[in-house]
Amino acid sequence: MEIGIDQISFFTPNLYLDLTELAEKRGVDPNKYLVGIGQEKQSIVPPTQDSVSMAANAASILLEQKSTEFLNSIDEILFASESGIDNSKSGAVYLQKLLNLKKNMRAIEIKQACYGGTFALMTAFDYVKLHPNKRILVVASDIARYGLKSAGEVTQGAGAVAMLVSTQPRLASYNWDSVFQSEDLMDFWRPLDQSEALVFGKMSQEIYEKFFYEIWQTYSQKNLKKVSDFAAFVFHLPFTKMGKKALDQINDQIDESKKDQLEKNRLAGQIYNRKVGNLYTGSLYLSLISLLKNNILKNNDRIAMFSYGSGAEGELYSLSLAADYRQAILGDPAQMIASRRKVSVDEYEGLFRAFPEDSEDHELTNSYDSSHFQLKRIKDHQRIYGDNF
Ligand code: CAA
Repeated sequence: MEIGIDQISFFTPNLYLDLTELAEKRGVDPNKYLVGIGQEKQSIVPPTQDSVSMAANAASILLEQKSTEFLNSIDEILFASESGIDNSKSGAVYLQKLLNLKKNMRAIEIKQACYGGTFALMTAFDYVKLHPNKRILVVASDIARYGLKSAGEVTQGAGAVAMLVSTQPRLASYNWDSVFQSEDLMDFWRPLDQSEALVFGKMSQEIYEKFFYEIWQTYSQKNLKKVSDFAAFVFHLPFTKMGKKALDQINDQIDESKKDQLEKNRLAGQIYNRKVGNLYTGSLYLSLISLLKNNILKNNDRIAMFSYGSGAEGELYSLSLAADYRQAILGDPAQMIASRRKVSVDEYEGLFRAFPEDSEDHELTNSYDSSHFQLKRIKDHQRIYGDNF
């Protein structure tokens, strides 16, 4: 019985910052951002979007036009985020209501930095293995915020990826080959009283690389796999250079004949991430969408997926592509990215400072946000969402 990702969709807010303009304003050579870090643009969040509304927007693309019978087969919503809106209540229960899903389900939030989306997916695979007629909705949604003029500023971003997990998946099946490891490390974290992440940038890159290298060695031994068994390696991409740094470590294991294909697929897998930025839990899955939309792969091609969450947790697993995998990517990610409105650096700084805190009441509006679901109001420490349609 094949189990895997049946369909997938992506949402990002409709504003962006040009990183060449940011570099000029910060007095940095633009090539540091464009080449050294590998980021060109970043999605900017209007006050009317947060991790829950973005998740609802991504999921609504997946669920529109589904029959009642199909919707009723969804037994769980697993909402993965490290920028959730509440320290106690799960973001998934907001999604259950916004998406008009049945009452008899589990609606749970999962957190382990950028790794949470992968854990949600693995949990979903296990559940569907035991309950083959059921489906699980997994949504990975985040706002990556480091602070104005911080070193991490160029690696911010925002967005959500939604996935349906089921048997007979139309996108890709899971190969039950995960290798994972975790270790209590302090490379990146966000204290309870802060909306911006704290990070030891260099250390975080070193740990990411070390985790990939160690996990790959164990994975290849345990699963008897070589680099040449894979059509592509897809990475969690906090910034696109990170994937290259990780893969370069196993360059000496790549057959000469395979080098071109892996490099082409690495580049295809970073096209959207270069323009959106980091979406933490969703970044690996945006990279998967980017690869599948921007290069032609074949039925049964095996894709290695490397998930990393600071703090730290890493996992390597593989997916095998279904025959019509392209039809299983719903919505039009390229169009969504291309139709965003550019904001100036001044406007971005204003929006960054206006990030709504729950301690004050707000009415939230943004004339440029035409997204389906929006955050309308914060009142008495409660977030109130609206359906814009
Ligand atoms: N032209 C071309 N390249 C240039 C250049 C120029 N003019 N100037 C500098 N560069 C290159 C540098 O050589 C460097 O490349 P290498 O790393 O390949 O040597 C690159 O640009 C970046 O330069 P710096 O290292 O000097 O950059 P920095 O110290 O200002 O910050 C950063 C970079 C550490 C990634 C910072 O943006 C940051 O802290 N980001 C957030 C943390 C992060 O994303 N960590 C990733 C791993 S953790 C993770 O994956 C979880 C997660 O999502 C957060």
